[in-house]
Order: sequence, then structure tokens, then C-alpha cells
Amino acid sequence: MVKIGNIELGEFPLLLAPMEDVSDPPFRAVCKDNGADLMYTEFISSEGLIRDAIKSRKKLDIFDYERPIGIQIFGGDEESLSLAAQIVEATNPDLLDINFGCPVKKVACKGAGAGILKDIPKMVKLTAAVVKATKLPVTIKTRLGWDEETKNIEDVAERLQDVGIKALTIHGRTRTQMYKGNADWTLIGKVKNNPRIQIPIFGNGDICTPEQAVAARAKYGVDGIMIGRAAIGYPWIFNEIKHFMKTGEHLPLPTVLERVEVCKKHLRQSVAWKGEVVGILEMRRHYTNYLKGLPHIKDYRQQLVTCNTLAEIEDVLDKVVLQYNDHIFERSAPAYDFLPSSNEMTGCNVYG
Ligand SMILES: Cc1cc2nc3c(=O)[nH]c(=O)nc-3n(C[C@H](O)[C@H](O)[C@H](O)COP(=O)(O)O)c2cc1C
Repeated sequence: MVKIGNIELGEFPLLLAPMEDVSDPPFRAVCKDNGADLMYTEFISSEGLIRDAIKSRKKLDIFDYERPIGIQIFGGDEESLSLAAQIVEATNPDLLDINFGCPVKKVACKGAGAGILKDIPKMVKLTAAVVKATKLPVTIKTRLGWDEETKNIEDVAERLQDVGIKALTIHGRTRTQMYKGNADWTLIGKVKNNPRIQIPIFGNGDICTPEQAVAARAKYGVDGIMIGRAAIGYPWIFNEIKHFMKTGEHLPLPTVLERVEVCKKHLRQSVAWKGEVVGILEMRRHYTNYLKGLPHIKDYRQQLVTCNTLAEIEDVLDKVVLQYNDHIFERSAPAYDFLPSSNEMTGCNVYG
């Protein structure tokens, strides 16, 4: 049984990754329905929380059906992070996660997110301060290191454990890699198999099929896997992996009706939580992913991103079901539409 503090997570938990503008309550609801064992909010600025920035506060919304749930914060200042930890604690999540992996320039270059990977003593000091400031179990999400020459995660893991974190998630890339190349799980495995390490180690990066999840578990011995992009528009990934791990067989792929039903739930939750205008606008980025694999879907997609009421959108979705009812989906690795490649070099819009 994997445990973070007193939170029991089963034999091999699958975690939903924190993703800015994606891992909000509506998206988390459909991931929870489909097997996510532990979920995180998108990252929240510690400075924003302290200033009472409305957008940051709104991100603290969590619901009982989501438990266990972690709130993720970022920042590069000890006092702000500690204060933010206390604000987070007051909202009663199950745990608090610190983001030490975000490579976005405006975050990393201020010494927060992955920026901290350049200054390990500071990373340890900030972590210790947060652990001291809250009664919540504190977890960390980070990368292998700053760059190819400084992949110091083995040392970092020991030092963070020593100051009291309760679990560590490692994304198998460096900061300078951003999202380029493949995630390298070798060092994640080394951290997990270090006899000094007692806390759960979760691996993260590029897992998008049940086969990959099984292979990563067998080869690297991690305590669980965190999944990000593969869940976008495809929250079934969690139950698919679980079923495959248990039986060696694939679950049948979701039918078009199931895809549309989940998409509708996501949409309705969006409208309920954000209001109709914003809920509908922010949902537009998800249709492509829910409808992936359907041929000649462009016209419907166009309608979905131009309709302005819930009823109109549901109507279009119903037409999709009618037209594609007999469609047989093929098993394929999800493509990562959420990667803004043109911005990679500047570091804008790329994350943890
Ligand atoms: C759109 C997007 C937003 C992200 N936002 C965050 C974030 O707020 N906090 C964080 O720690 N990581 C963030 N990440 C990184 C993911 O949590 C994860 O580490 C990364 O996507 C690799 O996992 P994957 O290959 O399963 O997607 C984000 C990634 C994406 C694609």
C-alpha cells in the first residue's frame, strides 16, 4: 500500500498531473470518474495568494468528491511560500505540493519553479520552511535537474526527504529540455532504488498507453505514475491502465456516445463552476481532444467552438453521436496537442 503521510493510495496509484488551465475542477471531475487516484490543482502563485489575487484564490476551490486532492503552489521566497502554505491549509486539502519544475521564463528566472534547480541549498531551505509552516503533508514535483550537466535529482531527493517531504514526483526531463526529446526515466529509477529513500517516488513524463505504464513500473520500480497530457480529452487512460495492469487485457475503447457523454459532463461542470460565458469559452480547447480519431470532424468542431450557449453545444454533440454512432475507434497513442512548440525557445506557455 502506497501512503503519503496517512493518505492511503492503493497498490500502484495513478496521479493526475497539475496542469495550468487544464487541471481545474471540471476536468478533475471527469478524471476522478475514470480512475485517477490522486489529483492536483494547477499551480498557484504564492505571491498571488497572498495578494488575494482573485484568479489564484479561485484555484483553491476543491470538492469533497475529489479527495484525496493536493493543492500545488510555486514561489521563490521563503516567507511568501510559508504564508501561502498557511492559506492553503485553511482550505483543507489532503496535501500541499510545491512546484519546483516549472520552466516558464517568468517563473524559473525569478528563482521559482525549475529555477530553484540552480540553487539546491535554497530549494532545501524553502522546502524546510514550508514543511514547518503547515501540518499538511508536503510533496514536491520537480525535474531531473537544471541542465544536462546538473542532473542532481539523486542528491536532491535525499535532501528533500531529510527535511520532511512525504512524496516526490519526478518529471524525467531537465529544465533546459523543456519538452524536447523523450523523458528519461533512468534517474527516476535510481532515486526509487536508492536504499536511503523511504518516501514514495512517482514517475512522470510521456506515459500515454497501458503498455508504457506497465513497462515503467516493471523497469523502474516507481511507486506510482503521474499522467498529464495523455488524460486531456481522454480521462479513460487511468482505468485503462489499471485494468491492463490487473488483467493484461485492454478495456474496450470508449464509444463515441461515451466520449460525448464525458465531454458533456466536463462542459456542464465548466459552466457550473465558471459561469456560462467563461465556462463555454474555456471548454473550446478540449473538443479536438475528445473527438480525436473521428474522420472529417472539422465542421462539427468549428460549430462547437463558435456556439455560445450550452444548449447549442449539446445539440451539436448529439449530432456527432448520431453521425458517428457506428465508428470503430483505433487504439493509438494520443498526440500532444497541448504542447505549444512555437514558444518552446522563449519558455512561454510551457510548464513543469
Ligand atoms: C498545459 C500544461 C500545463 C502544465 N501546468 C503545470 C503546472 O501547473 N504545474 C506543474 O507542476 N506542472 C505542469 N505541467 C507539467 C505536467 O504536470 C507534467 O509534468 C508534464 O506534462 C509531463 O507529463 P506528461 O508527459 O504525462 O504530460 C503542465 C503541462 C502542460 C502540458
